[in-house]
Amino acid sequence: MESLEKSIEKHIEALNEFTATPNNGTTRLTYSKEDLQARNYIKEQMKELGLEVREDGLGNIFGKLEGSLPDAPSVLVGSHFDSVPNGGAYDGPAGVVAGLEVASLFVKNGLKPQYPLEVFALVEEEGSRFGGGLMGSRGIVGMLNEKDFKELKDKDGISTEEAMKQIGLDPTLPKQRKPETMKAYLELHIEQGPILEEKNIPIGVVDAIVGLAQLEVTIEGQAGHAGTTPMDRRSDSLVTAAQIIAKLPELAIQEGNGSVITTGRLNVFPNGANVIPQKTVFSVDIRSGKEENVQSMIKKTKDLIHSYNGNGIRISYEEQLYIQPKAMNPEVVSLLKEQSAELDIPYCSINSGAGHDAMVFSDYTAAGMVFVPSKNGLSHCPEEWSDARDLAKAVQILYGAAKILTEAE
Ligand code: GLV
Ligand code: MN
Ligand code: MN
Repeated sequence: MESLEKSIEKHIEALNEFTATPNNGTTRLTYSKEDLQARNYIKEQMKELGLEVREDGLGNIFGKLEGSLPDAPSVLVGSHFDSVPNGGAYDGPAGVVAGLEVASLFVKNGLKPQYPLEVFALVEEEGSRFGGGLMGSRGIVGMLNEKDFKELKDKDGISTEEAMKQIGLDPTLPKQRKPETMKAYLELHIEQGPILEEKNIPIGVVDAIVGLAQLEVTIEGQAGHAGTTPMDRRSDSLVTAAQIIAKLPELAIQEGNGSVITTGRLNVFPNGANVIPQKTVFSVDIRSGKEENVQSMIKKTKDLIHSYNGNGIRISYEEQLYIQPKAMNPEVVSLLKEQSAELDIPYCSINSGAGHDAMVFSDYTAAGMVFVPSKNGLSHCPEEWSDARDLAKAVQILYGAAKILTEAE
């Protein structure tokens, strides 16, 4: 029988083929050609396991192993399968593959769950195409309503619904599902930081996930000729953006408590070397383990932005995401720790500085996460790598937890 490690590696490698940037990391934007390829692969694997496969009106994929109890809520295991631009092969897919492996272990061992087991493969967790992030999970729980979903557009002005249709998805299918249909949500993820590797511990059981906010700031000035417009007669949107962005790190440093602020996306219009930039749009990603720190940084960022309004510069912003720090379900945390101990796998408690779909589900069902070490603490880059031996350990822990939660026999 193929070993669990080899099988995990095979799935990760297969999914990693579906990138828009071969040899330069994984770029798999939601509803892109690569999304469709990965989607077909995941659905195929689910079907091979005998799962009942379904997609919702957001394009999330579910593979269900029915339980014996009528109308019982499902135990969900999964993660997302989109990526950041030029990201890695593990952020997201590792958790989807874990879901497939847990289902495969149920099937191979002939387990009959009483509560259904559902493998989840979610869209647009990263927000790399439509902004904000956590779109698939927020849509499922109703935090993102139908109207807001329809209004989302990518940087080229393509709407979510148009993009879905381009790869043959049906946006009219139901999106939301009732909390009563979910018994628990389990997610395996790579740590994306250096702690587990430094401690040489293969498993982190997540206690809590940081609070995070994302703003999209739009600065409008006046386009003009780069050669003929004197320096004192310019309303240059990019220069203003640069002044604001350069002040953001200090806000996080002053805030302390591990608070962070990042501008990672910036678009300049019309983006010509000899044209004064008319419009600049950039993201501000704000995070902290304490909500008061997140709120304080949002306020200071807004005050900073407002202070640059005027003199031919108009600034507006949109709050694309706000989510409080979230604790994982204490009973699921204990269960994951018990499973690690039973399997003799060393573990420690850990907090997450990255956002995860588990934080969205945590208000609606009993959510829990396990992390595995990231090589050199790197993630959101092509060098991202985790050891399949650690991933296999995490899968065994999730399998043990899922057996108990589904009351499998
Ligand atoms: C997802 O990786 C996030 O933390 O934004
Ligand atoms: Mn990510
Ligand atoms: Mn992720």
